Amino acid sequence: MNGQEIVELCSKHSLFSWSATDAVNPLPIARAEGVYMYTADGHRLLDFNSQLMSVNIGHSHPRVIAAMKKACDGLIFSHPGTATEARARLSKRLADLTPGNINSFFYTLGGAEANENAIRAARLYTGRSKILARYRSYHGGTNATLQLTGDPRRWANEPGMPGVIRVMDPHPYNYSFGKTESEIVANNLTYLEEVIQYEGPHTIAAMFIETVTGTNGILPPPAGYLKGLRELLTKYGILLVCDEVMCGLGRTGKMFAFEYGGIVPDIVTLAKGLTSSYVPLGAMGVSDPIADHFHKNVFWGGLTYNAHPFCLEVADAVLQTLIDEDMVGNAARLQPVMTAEMEKLAKNHPSVLTHRNIGLFGTVELRKKKGSNEPLVPYNTSHPVMGKFSKALVEKGLFTINRWNAFMTNPPLCITEAQLREGFGIIDGALGVVDEVVE
Ligand SMILES: Cc1ncc(COP(=O)(O)O)c(C=O)c1O
Repeated sequence: MNGQEIVELCSKHSLFSWSATDAVNPLPIARAEGVYMYTADGHRLLDFNSQLMSVNIGHSHPRVIAAMKKACDGLIFSHPGTATEARARLSKRLADLTPGNINSFFYTLGGAEANENAIRAARLYTGRSKILARYRSYHGGTNATLQLTGDPRRWANEPGMPGVIRVMDPHPYNYSFGKTESEIVANNLTYLEEVIQYEGPHTIAAMFIETVTGTNGILPPPAGYLKGLRELLTKYGILLVCDEVMCGLGRTGKMFAFEYGGIVPDIVTLAKGLTSSYVPLGAMGVSDPIADHFHKNVFWGGLTYNAHPFCLEVADAVLQTLIDEDMVGNAARLQPVMTAEMEKLAKNHPSVLTHRNIGLFGTVELRKKKGSNEPLVPYNTSHPVMGKFSKALVEKGLFTINRWNAFMTNPPLCITEAQLREGFGIIDGALGVVDEVVE
């Protein structure tokens, strides 16, 4: 099929997520290799978002493709009540990789299901029902995880699972909340403790956070927040769940983002980078006390494809590749290169409001008026120029995702310095269309 035929049939006979299908103008993608993807008509695109911040080792890595072919000759599937070598090997590897006392893993098909099972595990373990979550968050597209989610994707799915209390992030909309990072953290934790008192600490099972917030703005926590939060929650017997579906497994320049805070959560959830999206897989890792509990008490959850042997084989090969090729180190090494490239954009383009990145996890925000701090568009709205900007990027050979007044810079962790600079060169060449509308 040519590109047009692919698009027409996809649009006619399938539905696209988070959109009215008729409003989607999908790129027809035929193949992908390393940091590049190719349309059906042969146009090369530098993948500057690792698809959904998920193809961390890059596309079609030959070593993983070879491991997948080999795995096809082995055990493809056996039911979740069986023990398999793939399950044994990957679980031991994850236990060794994860700091602290997180040594047991429950496997799912993606991030939302990992979080669903973390809600379940927290409730069963603590005997409490309520869950705390933050507004600047996305935790998945299922009924319960959309209620944990703060962002507008929740609205059309309300009311969903009861018992979620959403709180403000340590990123105030109004800096009278605090001027320095330590003031912001102290104020946020004081406020959170007050919420915990009003809700009844004995009724709250867990708090979910994205350790570094992803689609809601690439927001690393302010210094001291993770430690303070960990201490506050422990004081009330509330479990800390770090959702590392997007920020985990190397994206930030460390294997786990919570390592930046010098803490270990009670539960960590993973997906995306776990298989670099080569096959669907998620995981919930639990600390020893929680694992001990479920050694004696029933874990009331299951999935036909829980611990799917083929998917676990792929994850093992992906993690081996990530480690052998030191891609986490590469993300850390290229962090200052990305920052420097963003600074250049800010210097060259009046449309750039601000930018930030941790490892290869970055975003650039655009503004409405020269020299002002006003975003190009308010929260949850868009501007026609963002569509034009995306089109210009694609024409010049780069794919990324725009959201509201920002665009993402999250390439695969195998990217070279030259390829990273190439990407920013393309962005530099396309940003003029946004500069033109800046007042
Ligand atoms: C932080 C976070 N948690 C959970 C999810 C849900 O993962 P999945 O789409 O694999 O269900 C996502 C997906 O983008 C995510 O970014």
